[in-house]
Amino acid sequence: MTASFDVKNLTLDEKASLTSGGDLWHLQAIPAKGIPGWMITDGPHGLRKAVRSDTATDQSIPSTCFPPAAGLSSSWDPDLIEAVGRAMAEECIQEQVGVILGPGVNIKRNPLGGRSFEFWSEDPLLAGVQANSLVEGIQSQGVGTSLKHFAANNQESDRLRVSARVSERAMREIYLPAFEYVIKHANPWTVMCSYNKVNGVYSAQNHRLLTEILRDEWGYGGVVMSEWGACHDRVASLAAGLNLEMPPSHSDDQIVSAVREGRLDESTLDARAQELLDLAAKAAPAMSREGYRYDPKDHQNVARAAARESMVLLANRNGVLSLSDGDDFAVVGEFARTPRYQGGGSSHITPTEMSSFLDALGKRGIEAEFAPGFTLDDADQDEALTNEALEVASRHDVTIVFVGLPESTESEGYDRKTMDIPAKQIKLLHGLAAVGSHLVVILSNGSSVVTSTWQKDADAIIEGWLLGQAGGDATADVVFGDCSPSGKLAQSIPVRLEDDPSYVNFPGGEGTVDYGEGVFVGYRYYDTVGREVSFPFGFGLSYTTFRIDGLRVEAQGPCGADVEVTVTNTGSCSGAETVQLYVAPKGPSPVARPSHELRAFEKVALQPGESRKVSFDLDSRAFAYWSEARHDWHVEAGDYGIEVGSSSRDISCREVVSIEGDGNTLELNDFSTYAEWMADPVGAPILTRAQEGSDSERVQGMLRNPKVLSFIQDFPLTMLEAFGGSDVAAVCSAALAEYHRAREARRS
Ligand code: BGC
Repeated sequence: MTASFDVKNLTLDEKASLTSGGDLWHLQAIPAKGIPGWMITDGPHGLRKAVRSDTATDQSIPSTCFPPAAGLSSSWDPDLIEAVGRAMAEECIQEQVGVILGPGVNIKRNPLGGRSFEFWSEDPLLAGVQANSLVEGIQSQGVGTSLKHFAANNQESDRLRVSARVSERAMREIYLPAFEYVIKHANPWTVMCSYNKVNGVYSAQNHRLLTEILRDEWGYGGVVMSEWGACHDRVASLAAGLNLEMPPSHSDDQIVSAVREGRLDESTLDARAQELLDLAAKAAPAMSREGYRYDPKDHQNVARAAARESMVLLANRNGVLSLSDGDDFAVVGEFARTPRYQGGGSSHITPTEMSSFLDALGKRGIEAEFAPGFTLDDADQDEALTNEALEVASRHDVTIVFVGLPESTESEGYDRKTMDIPAKQIKLLHGLAAVGSHLVVILSNGSSVVTSTWQKDADAIIEGWLLGQAGGDATADVVFGDCSPSGKLAQSIPVRLEDDPSYVNFPGGEGTVDYGEGVFVGYRYYDTVGREVSFPFGFGLSYTTFRIDGLRVEAQGPCGADVEVTVTNTGSCSGAETVQLYVAPKGPSPVARPSHELRAFEKVALQPGESRKVSFDLDSRAFAYWSEARHDWHVEAGDYGIEVGSSSRDISCREVVSIEGDGNTLELNDFSTYAEWMADPVGAPILTRAQEGSDSERVQGMLRNPKVLSFIQDFPLTMLEAFGGSDVAAVCSAALAEYHRAREARRS
């Protein structure tokens, strides 16, 4: 079925009806005009289709549970993520779902964020590129996505109302770029606004966000839907750029009367309704494939491949991993039997199958002694469980211990209270270390946990995040060396929660949260101030080793550069390295900038001894900062370090490139300081000439006196008069007049 629908064929009531859902999980249909009301439902790491579409229940039909973004984001593998997207879309087609609600590209601002497991990274480029692949994968099959939650939804505390107070620069450099990247590259069919306010205005009625930035600046032409229940004023929302209220509040008459009374332009309603019609038409071909069946086994394989790449090897002392079939080991920890594989809330889905690590051992024909070690509830530690675990461990050379966050500790709806794993698990780890067998720790958690209190106990640590339904098999694949781990951290692991830059401003209070750390989120802060971390952003080991060298950098045009580097597998097994490129402004800069920022990356799979050249084209955004004075991106002329390595703290090679800059200087005026004048390519020679041309002893005296010169650097030109007298004032006004003439001449 191909379709196109025209808003001109609809009555005012029909148009208004389209701007609200048909029910909790459907678009509004208009059967009389042949307009379908497709199902739209969660997302984002698999399909959550409610058994009954009139409830928000957890009762959903089985679907493949792929690793949530917490895991998948550590893969740094856009191709793999695209394959996950394609598989998710196939399940949507079978289940007649036109739009799947995700991915969520909100930045992991603070480790306690209750929904971090659904989001990708502390870094906007990494979040944007990876989410983009998911969108491309899904949409390539004719199913839509909903990029959410636009914008600044970075906590669960007071999430329905809180006002995120964010500077324009932090918005542009940290909280918007992942959205911008996906909008510009993959054109998601829909966007979902956030519940919260941004700088005092609800996202659902935020004209600046929904129209000026999203539509006018980024050129978005799709549908913006509300968060579930976030539409508080339908007319204001429509006027701000929102298309669709979800779920419906059955208040279409508000729209109709607003149009009739001239409070809402009918052309605005027409534009928003047409976008909804276009959405209905776009989904039609895939939704007409009735009887289509996906292959669950195939999707299980995709989920397993994704889970393998989601794990991050944080430590591997003396190469304790991988294990061989004949190795003597015990398994401890309830998570080995009852895996934690996804987070709670609207993304919680019913898997088609489940494998625990113990199941995976069984499938491999491996028998291992197991002790649960602890329970997953809040109960105090049962000493009998501890003793049993210690005894079991004492009988074997290696103990694989599964620890992490029980399901109740992290979910949509609330933030975590602590970054620690439960105390009883930490105590058990200390006890196991004292037993003396080699300890391999496997973590299950949706957001980072403190490792500094116990990491010395471990010989090896695998950060397993949440791995979806194939996590048990995939963990065995990595533990037994069927593949080398290749994940890299998408978020830093600080030594203590208190080290986090947003610590004092999270989660705010009295209805407001201050993003006081500005652009210094995650490694942008840790690396700038040299704060010790347990594991840095981008970090992850492999069973093999790599060398990154041969860096070549060449400036391209005024604001870009071409970069080439070589990566070699120097070890003895196959593996994949993610080459990470950071740009480090050398300053001085008019604004405080992070010491370096991730600007490109590529994951490269290599056989032992194999080398590959990797090239990156850096455009102006790689060097730019958001200038609040210009309300625009700005590339300063100057030197920039190009750093290439395997994490934000493991830089293998660096070069400096001189960038000409965009030449966008701020217009000078009489309130520009002396220093600003002397830094301006047009203003400096004019002021210098005016000073040197003055026959005033006073002026010449000032110029000869270094102390005075230092003192006046921060003086607005016009205020020099008060200190320097009329001779100085004459010089300043002559400079100003000539400067204006020069600007005029340039303009005409
Ligand atoms: C969540 C969204 C979700 C929606 C529909 C909201 O509460 O925040 O992420 O897509 O519900 O389930």
